[in-house]
Amino acid sequence: MILEGKTALVSGGSRGIGRAIAELFYAEGANVYIFSRNPDQLAQAAKEIDCKNENRCHAVPCDVGSKTSVDEAFARIKADGAVIDVLVNCAGVNLRGPLETMPIETWQKVLDINLTGTFLLTQNCFEGFKKRGGGKVINIASLMSEIARPTISPYVASKGGVKMFTKAIAVEWAKYNIQANAIIPGYISTEMNTPLIQDEKFNKFICDRTPAGRWGKPEEVAHAALFFASKGADFITGQLIAVDGGILAAL
Ligand SMILES: NC(=O)c1ccc[n+]([C@@H]2O[C@H](COP(=O)([O-])OP(=O)(O)OC[C@H]3O[C@@H](n4cnc5c(N)ncnc54)[C@H](OP(=O)(O)O)[C@@H]3O)[C@@H](O)[C@H]2O)c1
Repeated sequence: MILEGKTALVSGGSRGIGRAIAELFYAEGANVYIFSRNPDQLAQAAKEIDCKNENRCHAVPCDVGSKTSVDEAFARIKADGAVIDVLVNCAGVNLRGPLETMPIETWQKVLDINLTGTFLLTQNCFEGFKKRGGGKVINIASLMSEIARPTISPYVASKGGVKMFTKAIAVEWAKYNIQANAIIPGYISTEMNTPLIQDEKFNKFICDRTPAGRWGKPEEVAHAALFFASKGADFITGQLIAVDGGILAAL
């Protein structure tokens, strides 16, 4: 198994892409921690992910946009005696509104969760990575790391930041045998996109715009994360891989 003996932390692991990553990492033998805010949904997800009843999936409620909450969550991991080998920064939100009337609170919230949360979790993993002689950071970026669309300016700014932060980690921590890479999911059918999938016109727009002609599945993103987490990717760092059915290639 690819992740036997490894401990992984997946933020946003309670549903969608993060959950699919947590499930695949668990299936590949990892001990998995999942973070998200809603404690009930998180606990239920951990129970379902730990389908072999091996106590290998741990739910730790955490708001990645709050330093206090992140510090508390890492204290819990430390108290378990666990050390993170693989970090997946997947927690994210997208709040919409026209730029000209965008409340600063909305802007700040998206930046805090998507970008600062990624920074906080990455920084908190550093001591453990050093102790282990290396580590992996996998950031979930977005098509919006490369292109922009109207009414989602904080999301676009945050995901552009996630892309460049990935490169910053890669160059600064390569000497510690830490690799940082990012995944650009295309349009993936998760809860975040349920209203868009149900909107017939938008759904057709997405399928027409995607060379593969369909929405992606969370598991398809998870397999790219597994590759970056694997030993086979030890010399790959600062890279982005698009799991987008060909959208970026067609632009
Ligand atoms: N789906 C797509 O098409 C797509 C495309 C490109 C990029 N992405 C990116 O992929 C990631 C996952 O997206 P998804 O579609 O799987 O979304 P989702 O189904 O809405 O899941 C988001 C996850 O993040 C958690 N989360 C949100 N805010 C958080 C916070 N402050 N602290 C901790 N956890 C938080 C959520 O749990 P709680 O709400 O309980 O906290 C949930 O577990 C995001 O970063 C998103 O930007 C998605």
